[in-house]
Amino acid sequence: MVDRLAGKVAIVTGAGSGMGKAISQLFAKEGAKVVLADINAQGIEEVKQAIEQAGGQAAAKVTNVVKQEDVDGVIDFATQTFGQLDILVNNAGIMDNFTPVGNLTDAEYERVMAINLTGPVKLCRAAIQVMEKQETGGVIINNASVGGLFGTRGGAAYTMAKHALVGLTKNIAGTYGRFGKVRANAIAPGGVATNIQTTITAPDPLGMQALQATGETPIGQPGQIANLALFLASDEASFINGDIVKADGGWTVN
Ligand SMILES: NC(=O)c1ccc[n+]([C@@H]2O[C@H](COP(=O)([O-])OP(=O)(O)OC[C@H]3O[C@@H](n4cnc5c(N)ncnc54)[C@H](O)[C@@H]3O)[C@@H](O)[C@H]2O)c1
Repeated sequence: MVDRLAGKVAIVTGAGSGMGKAISQLFAKEGAKVVLADINAQGIEEVKQAIEQAGGQAAAKVTNVVKQEDVDGVIDFATQTFGQLDILVNNAGIMDNFTPVGNLTDAEYERVMAINLTGPVKLCRAAIQVMEKQETGGVIINNASVGGLFGTRGGAAYTMAKHALVGLTKNIAGTYGRFGKVRANAIAPGGVATNIQTTITAPDPLGMQALQATGETPIGQPGQIANLALFLASDEASFINGDIVKADGGWTVN
């Protein structure tokens, strides 16, 4: 199937690597004009070139999701460059060090919460202001994690941030999705082969013990998550609102 997102304009954060890159490339292949937002300028430039070589449309905008001016900047950039904003994928994120709260430093807590939660809050706020004014509304997809549904797939900070992102998704769905024009869902991936391991710098032994007790982690590919994001972003999912869809190869079934 092609053109499942024909005519749509999407912002994807964390588009320079991993799942964000795969989501951006698939969205463009399906007809969306994609704004690639990431702190990694080289990464998003390479993704832009790959999309254009494949015949798609994309624009790169260096964005730190933590900074309000960058958030406002990327929303303005999307509407000025492509005329509207239909889809926001809050995908940018980092791991913590699997640190339980007893060992959690303020610095690790604040960094993880800022990127994984405050950034998406700012982006949802700004995007909704645009989407609610459009006749056709919009769609938000938050890339959470099974760490947003279970206790030991990350440290305390990651687990809290992702649980809160799930709560944000449900609140948007219950308000704008039901009584406004913006549908929202979250994805909860399990283990996926990306560059996120590089953000684990000093794994905490107790946190790792708790992780290992969850059993062997099946490892998926970014494209498998992109397929889910595409479905949720498309009109095929028009009645799906406020769901948190796991894609973890069965890691959490027992
Ligand atoms: N890989 C996994 O196993 C896994 C599992 C569950 C959930 N997730 C979530 O998936 C999302 C994508 O992660 P990934 O695995 O593709 O990782 P990745 O490291 O390959 O990509 C993340 C991207 O986010 C960008 N980024 C980091 N901080 C940013 C900031 N402040 N502003 C803008 N961009 C920023 C990075 O530059 C990078 O390009 C994250 O939210 C992560 O928590 C990952």
